[in-house]
Amino acid sequence: MREANRIVALILAELEKEIAPGLTTLELERKAEDLCQKYKVKPAFKGYHGYPYILCCSVNEQIVHGFPSSRELQAGDILSVDMGVVYKGFYGDAARTFAVGDISPQARELMQVTEKSLYKGIEQAKVGNNLYDISAAIQNYVEAKGFHVVKRFVGHGIGTRLHEKPEVPNFVPVNANKLPLKVGMTLAIEPMVAVGTDEVEILKDNWTAVTKDGSLAAHFEHTIAITSEGPEILSQV
Ligand code: MF3
Ligand code: CO
Repeated sequence: MREANRIVALILAELEKEIAPGLTTLELERKAEDLCQKYKVKPAFKGYHGYPYILCCSVNEQIVHGFPSSRELQAGDILSVDMGVVYKGFYGDAARTFAVGDISPQARELMQVTEKSLYKGIEQAKVGNNLYDISAAIQNYVEAKGFHVVKRFVGHGIGTRLHEKPEVPNFVPVNANKLPLKVGMTLAIEPMVAVGTDEVEILKDNWTAVTKDGSLAAHFEHTIAITSEGPEILSQV
C-alpha cells in the first residue's frame, strides 16, 4: 500500500508540472499513461465500472469523474486530477486540485479550505476514534468556512480493491452508527467541496458530476493508514 500510493503521489507531482494554460487534459492523460509504464503500475480507474480513462480531470464546476478532453485549460481554471494505480495487487488512490495560471481569490480559498478539510479529517483517523469523527471534522470545517460538502460521493476503504468497506462520507449521516477505527485500516479520504450548493448533476456521458448551480468545486484525496502511532499518509512523496 505504501509503494502503490507513493507512486500515485509521484505521478500527480509529475503531472502538476505540465499544468498550464493551453494544455489539454487529454495530453495529461497521455502523460499519465507514460508514467504508469515508467513506474510499472496498472492504472486503477480505466475499465472500472466502464470508466474509459486513466485520469479523472474535473475542471471548474466539474466535481469529480470528468473525462480528459481536447478542451484547452485557461488561466483562471481550477483542475482536479484524480488518479489510481495497482501495484503488486494493492491499490493507490489520490486526488488534488490545481490552479491554472492566476485564479480568483474565491477559487484559491475553495482549494485551501478543501485541502485543509482533508487534513482535519486525517487528524481524526486514529485508534480511539470512530469513523464519523473523520466525517464530522471535514464537514464542520467546510461549513464553518461557508462552503458546501458534496454528499453524493464518499471516500472508501481501499486495499486489494479500489473500493472496500467502509464508506467514508464527508458528512455525518443521520442515524450514524459508531464504527471504531483500528490499526491496519487503510482509507481513502476525499472531500469534494463546492462554493454554492451540495446539489449534483451528472452529464450525459453518465460520469461527469457537476455542481447544479455551476459554482466551482474542488477535490483533495489521500490514502492513509491507521497505525498505532496515528494516521500515516501513504499518498505523498
Ligand atoms: N477517487 C475516486 C473514487 O474513489 C475516483 C474513482 S474513478 C472510477 O471513487 F472511475 F474509478 F470510478
Ligand atoms: Co477514491
